[in-house]
Amino acid sequence: MKSLTRKLMSVIIAASFCFGLASCSGKTTSVSSAASETTTAAETKASESSSAAESKAEVKTVTAGKLIMATNATFPPYEFHEGDKIVGIDAEIAKAIADKLGLELVIEDVAFDSIIAGVQAGKYDIGCAGMTVTEDRLKSVNFSTSYATGIQSIIVKEGSEIKTIDDLIKGKYKVGVQSGTTGDIYMSDAENGGVGEDRIDRYNNGNDAVVALMSGKVDAVCIDNEPAKSYVAANKSLVILDTPFTEEKYAIAVNKDNEALLNAINKALEELTADGTIAKIIEKYIPSK
Ligand code: ARG
Repeated sequence: MKSLTRKLMSVIIAASFCFGLASCSGKTTSVSSAASETTTAAETKASESSSAAESKAEVKTVTAGKLIMATNATFPPYEFHEGDKIVGIDAEIAKAIADKLGLELVIEDVAFDSIIAGVQAGKYDIGCAGMTVTEDRLKSVNFSTSYATGIQSIIVKEGSEIKTIDDLIKGKYKVGVQSGTTGDIYMSDAENGGVGEDRIDRYNNGNDAVVALMSGKVDAVCIDNEPAKSYVAANKSLVILDTPFTEEKYAIAVNKDNEALLNAINKALEELTADGTIAKIIEKYIPSK
């Protein structure tokens, strides 16, 4: 168990300002006719002290006037479907950021494990999906400042003989995970305290993993704590096991070549934190009492 905790600690990075190259991607289009194609070092510096609203002229997005957000909306309370809308903490934070930047937010619901590649390929402007900052992901994308945290949880059926995470690791039990998530990464690594590849069943989304647990296809599901709580609240026959996992930091993924967008998002997040908007959004979906 100790080794798993250690592994988690080494994988998860404290999210702060993660800047990439200053060059702008040729694939992107300008949101403002006044915005120049390239940003000089001096301009970048000047923008660092200006407000999110002031920096919007420099921001280029995949489609002019839009902020395309990739997410996977089976992750309540961060993103989930409500009627024909995608709502949740990430959807509202992204909307508040888009408003500050004078952009229209467009949310695309895609497979979680395709988000980073899509941001990297210039298909989406941002990945906003309760996404944990990891060393590995930082090789492909930049991350904004962190706006929330999570911890991996284990869900089992009520009355399961799995009472602790040690029971889960030592037994022959199968674990359902959402493909490409940190839960998947930790649980598949037998050498570092996970159950190992052979005992993992990967699902396209958290909901499918929970359905597999309910029908007995897997014995447990490893997923972030807030979605775990939501799934357990909706299915009374499920319970959450305490885990010693380390806190993960959630942040917004941005293409490494779009430093102007990363800076503008960080500025917007700073302002939305300072004026209490972020706290209000989180409180709406995760009431403190
Ligand atoms: N925090 C975990 C990760 O980054 C899980 C995120 C899953 N998010 C989602 N919207 N389905 O890997």
